[in-house]
Amino acid sequence: MSKKTVLTGITTSGTPHIGNYLGAIKPAIEASEKPELESYFFLADYHALIKCHDPERVAQSSREIAATWLALGLDTDKATFYRQSDIPEITELSWILTCMCSKGLMNRSHAYKASVDANQAAGKSELDDGITMGLFSYPILMAADILMFNADIVPVGKDQIQHIEMTRDIAGRFNSNYTKLFNMPDAQVDEETQLIPGLDGRKMSKSYDNTIPLFCSSDQLNKLIKQVDTDSKQPGEPKDPDSSTVFQLYNSFANEREAQQMREQYAAGIGWGDAKKELFEFLDAKLSAPRAEYNRLMNDLPFVESVLLKGAEKARAKSMPLLDEVRIAAGIRPLPFVPAQQAKKAKKEKSSEDIARAEQGRRRGILMQLKGALEAVANSDDPKAAAIALLEEKSAKLATLKAKAKDKAENELSVLTEELAQYSL
Ligand code: TRP
Repeated sequence: MSKKTVLTGITTSGTPHIGNYLGAIKPAIEASEKPELESYFFLADYHALIKCHDPERVAQSSREIAATWLALGLDTDKATFYRQSDIPEITELSWILTCMCSKGLMNRSHAYKASVDANQAAGKSELDDGITMGLFSYPILMAADILMFNADIVPVGKDQIQHIEMTRDIAGRFNSNYTKLFNMPDAQVDEETQLIPGLDGRKMSKSYDNTIPLFCSSDQLNKLIKQVDTDSKQPGEPKDPDSSTVFQLYNSFANEREAQQMREQYAAGIGWGDAKKELFEFLDAKLSAPRAEYNRLMNDLPFVESVLLKGAEKARAKSMPLLDEVRIAAGIRPLPFVPAQQAKKAKKEKSSEDIARAEQGRRRGILMQLKGALEAVANSDDPKAAAIALLEEKSAKLATLKAKAKDKAENELSVLTEELAQYSL
């Protein structure tokens, strides 16, 4: 059975946080260890330009996200790990897909509609105020990311499901209009990892500004954990772990036994200060080794860059041949190129008249080349002897020639024999 392809990307517009790790990076690295899967993970840096127009931030986020994947142990011999902008085929494909995507489909995109709604709520008369074409057509770039490697499985957050549906829509239109070159990908949403809460208890997300950076210093981690929202229960009062952000963060890194022990401490009335101290010590211990590796990599960016460039080479070994097929299918071709099927059909359909015409043309060409020799025979004192001599000369030469040149000489000889027949040889 052929391997299924898993593909996912992270937009390079922020610092990787615990939510990114648990929700995307950790499950992706686990998937890449499975021999039945082929995995593609990438830095979605062109996606970053959609919302972030601060170049330093995009560049720094790319460094941080690349170093994070590697620090967490991604094996780049197993997975193909690359930066989107190193694969020009993706942006080329994006344009071809743009021409296969109805505008109405993009009008329905949640990301675009949310911005329109925000303008409406702000009482703006121009509903597209501040909305770029990048934001509007961003699902097409994402479709290109996915279809370029014919992914089967795309692990994403819930907010991205619509984009995978749009990808299928666009792929279907390409396949039915041109040639079936694209798979239909499926979104994979892990409900559990969607629930990682941030400092304020809402889902941990850049857009809520409630994140805990995955590799911040011990001190900062301690400080942030102290900021996590709790209820006002006093030490000694039993607490409900399931409605506690402090517990949920603990739980998402804990095994069953560790989680059970912590539940018991909550039931026994552990104070919030102590619960946070336990959480800090637990996370700090888990993160200290990969944090050290992360810091080492951030101080060796040429190495990280070289890993990305190697990944790009691996990725392009797939994207270049597929893009060639896509372009050919869409009619973007070298001028003499004729698709194999069409060429076969054209050959079959040649009528006997066409064949006779081609044969005559060929004969005329040969005659033109022989004109001089034929005239010499005609003008000689003994045309018959001259004709015999010419034929003997050409036949002798024929024996010395290689296949292709021989063919040509044979044709010439047969035309000559016909022309010289008038000398009654
Ligand atoms: N848009 C995705 C996000 O914001 C990131 C992304 C870009 C992506 N291209 C992708 C995810 C392709 C999966 C597949 O989370």
